[in-house]
Amino acid sequence: MDDVLRLAFEATLAFRHSLPERPVGVQASQASLHAALGAPLTDQGEPAATVIADLVRNADAGIVAEPGPRYFGFVIGGSSEAAMAADWLTTAWDQNAGLYACAPALSVVEDICAGWVVDLLGLPTQSSVGFVTGCQMAHFTCIAAARNELLRRVGWDVEQEGLHGSPHIHVVVGDEVHVTVPRALRFAGLGAGRMLRVPVDGQGRMIAAELTNTLAMLDGPVLVCAQVGNVNTGAIDPIDEIAKACAGHNTWLHVDGAFGLWAAAVPSMRHAVKGIERADSWATDAHKWLNVPYDSGLAIVKDARAHRAAMTASAAYLIQSTGDAVRDAVDWVPEFSRRGRGFPIYAQLRTLGRAGLAELIANSCALARRAADGLAAIPGAEVLNEIALNQILVRFTPSAGGDADAFTRRVVEGVQEEGTCWLSGSSWHGVAVMRMSISGQDTTEVDIDRSVAAIRAVAFAAMASPEFRQGERL
Ligand SMILES: Cc1ncc(COP(=O)(O)O)c(C=O)c1O
Repeated sequence: MDDVLRLAFEATLAFRHSLPERPVGVQASQASLHAALGAPLTDQGEPAATVIADLVRNADAGIVAEPGPRYFGFVIGGSSEAAMAADWLTTAWDQNAGLYACAPALSVVEDICAGWVVDLLGLPTQSSVGFVTGCQMAHFTCIAAARNELLRRVGWDVEQEGLHGSPHIHVVVGDEVHVTVPRALRFAGLGAGRMLRVPVDGQGRMIAAELTNTLAMLDGPVLVCAQVGNVNTGAIDPIDEIAKACAGHNTWLHVDGAFGLWAAAVPSMRHAVKGIERADSWATDAHKWLNVPYDSGLAIVKDARAHRAAMTASAAYLIQSTGDAVRDAVDWVPEFSRRGRGFPIYAQLRTLGRAGLAELIANSCALARRAADGLAAIPGAEVLNEIALNQILVRFTPSAGGDADAFTRRVVEGVQEEGTCWLSGSSWHGVAVMRMSISGQDTTEVDIDRSVAAIRAVAFAAMASPEFRQGERL
């Protein structure tokens, strides 16, 4: 065993040390990875050391430097050394986190982390927290709790009766809702097709006055889903105004704060999420901006009773707490057996401390502003969003006009191939954009400047290519 683990340990160190300089994206094709990794499955099995050595060697070409300092794709944080070390221990301890009886230390650690997170984010102290795989399942968990409570208020026990013949729950979202919300609505039987979409402003923020108008037209329970951190622009819905609009109606206000909710932990940014504590539930990730390894999300619910009622399960063979004496994770998450994902969160929060967490978030935002300034100085580049958090949208136009969509996509592809950094594209208000997210804790100003220089060089090279020079002649 020691040899195999040592092999993995050395490979881990080699990989981590390679992060600052290895190409960020991968060039290997799916076919070549298949050829390298696709050994025939033997009858007798193979020595573990051989398997692990092969895995390290053959997977390498297909490993993206996501925890590295210049990975800016999607919204993907790195993983700190403390969180990663705790994650290894989580694997070694191999606790089934579902019940206190199976994982007492984990249960206590998750209790402690729940208290820390609620406090750091300034949410109501009685809120309950479930440690789930990611924001997708956090949405599902919170929406299941919302469904329980909204229907309970109108005399319907959804846990027993389901939705067959139940009163209708209206669902109201901002027009820029993240795709994981309708997906969670589908899982919860509320139907993605029934969402009422409230118009948003130019940055993607829900317009609270429009929500007021929408709510005025509705009768019965309403689930309102707001957003803190638009996946493209980083824009933050006006939560205080949204909460005011909800007051007086039979509503449950859920907040998608996959990454942006962490702004609430930064004293100087707290004003941007004013009113956040007035919501009923919040979904966020630890594996994004908190820089904890995958997979790790948090479902936070103000009404612990509804949260527990929506999730709990019991059986004669289990050993469960009947009250609040100990935390059985099965009461707070959709999973039954699961990994002890509280350990890495505990390690990361303790290592950062209150000020360290605030600095991590504020630093990413400052780096995003620096990147935006650098990118805006590239001829033909235009930053399309206000830098509310850590997201940047850039559009590139060839010098003499021409197809800016095609040119922007070419620049994105060129940057991915060049390897200094990795980012991806999106579309915003119907046009192609390059999208950059600064979420890793190891990113520095030097990384930003190097990346901007690489993007500038790629844009100039693309501009000089026959395809886009032709536009110049036309
Ligand atoms: C606003 C928003 N909500 C939800 C998600 C989904 O998060 P996860 O992939 O952890 O489920 C994302 C992912 O980027 C996001 O940006």
